[in-house]
Amino acid sequence: EKIGEWEVSQSQSVKPLQKAADYLRTKDIPVAFPTETVYGLGADATRTAAVKGIYSAKGRPSDNPLITHVADLDMLRHILQPATEKNGATNGTHDYIPDIYKPLIERFWPGPLTILLPNPTPSKLAPEVTAGLKTFGVRMPASPLARSLIKLVGAPLAAPSANASTKPSPTTANHVLEDLEGRIDLILDGGPCLVGVESTVVDGLCDPPVVLRPGGVSIDELRKCPGWETVEKAYKDHSEAGKAAPRAPGMKYKHYSPKAQVVLYEATRPNLHKGIDQQDLELKDNESNIVGVVRTRYWQPGGNLLCGEFKEQESLVAPAESYNQVGIELQVRETDLYGSRDGAPIGKLLDISIGKDCRSIAHGLFSALRELDRRGSDVIFVEGTVDDEDIGAAVMNRLRKAASRIKS
Ligand code: TXA
Ligand code: MG
Repeated sequence: EKIGEWEVSQSQSVKPLQKAADYLRTKDIPVAFPTETVYGLGADATRTAAVKGIYSAKGRPSDNPLITHVADLDMLRHILQPATEKNGATNGTHDYIPDIYKPLIERFWPGPLTILLPNPTPSKLAPEVTAGLKTFGVRMPASPLARSLIKLVGAPLAAPSANASTKPSPTTANHVLEDLEGRIDLILDGGPCLVGVESTVVDGLCDPPVVLRPGGVSIDELRKCPGWETVEKAYKDHSEAGKAAPRAPGMKYKHYSPKAQVVLYEATRPNLHKGIDQQDLELKDNESNIVGVVRTRYWQPGGNLLCGEFKEQESLVAPAESYNQVGIELQVRETDLYGSRDGAPIGKLLDISIGKDCRSIAHGLFSALRELDRRGSDVIFVEGTVDDEDIGAAVMNRLRKAASRIKS
């Protein structure tokens, strides 16, 4: 079957892509690859042995279905086409893509949106992809590298985020290496991911349509599309959690958690200005305390953040990594940490600012959590003042899942 033209701008990129594609076609160990949201852990979605390889590499529960990634609409139509119908019989008048999704596909693909579609019987996808459900989730990633890889493989790729289960999703190739070294053979490095949180998952097969997971496409953007004006949110987080069985199976698992305890401050603005209070610190009795801080809007370095003792004598530690794609550079500031009384420092404070608007916050969030974890933080305090507008809902959803405690 001809799967169309593909192009990569730099010829030296062709070799690793070709190598990864050959590997995906023939081996049963998944390959990590970049998408615009987060790194994915891909396998040929049509081969059971390959898809099983994803679950074992990640340590992922097998009742949690995987997202299928296609390079183009032809590839999607091929999956949707009943086995009885000959190739090529799809002619645009009946292409099996439900009408409700057409405005979304038009507007957001390629991009960070996953839609649920009925899985035909017999299915072209390995049953392990859908974990026994009658639907499958599919998206066309915006990353040209991802689409080129899929085209080269010539089959859709099933891919969850390429983190170890429960860890924050990886937004750089190094994050993947930290989690999966020794478990996989290949990582395609495409630099830091542009969006930084996963795709929005929607179900348009029910009425009204619902958002199963907030992500890189906001609910406001969805509402502008015909048929989606009344889209409802079917995910739970924070206080709503645990009341009903989640409809996206993945939403029930512990997620996005670094090793350190995460304390999320969702305080109102005046309370936030007070910063972290003394009793939250639970400091050890020696000098080995490592406290991480993720700042967004109001917490200022040198401000009244930590028991009034957020001292100014900061020495700038080497940049964690460069995040120039959205115009901010993520840096870790390291300062001495003081208790409430004067005296010698009782450890260190690691402080990362991830920007004020929700796009930069989304972009830097997982990286910041991982970086503070890597540097041994016992506890990470996160300033959770992100408006629910745009992809702020996705950011807050991930933060609430990562937090062991929420202060409001
Ligand atoms: O941005 C993304 O979506 C990334 C990149 C790699 O594409 N992928 C990703 O996959 O986040 P994963 O496996 O970590 O999350 C998939 C989510 C889970 O919450 C899962 O339960 C839901 O999508 N999902 C997949 N298929 C589904 C289905 N048929 N019905 C309901 N939920 C489904
Ligand atoms: Mg995931």
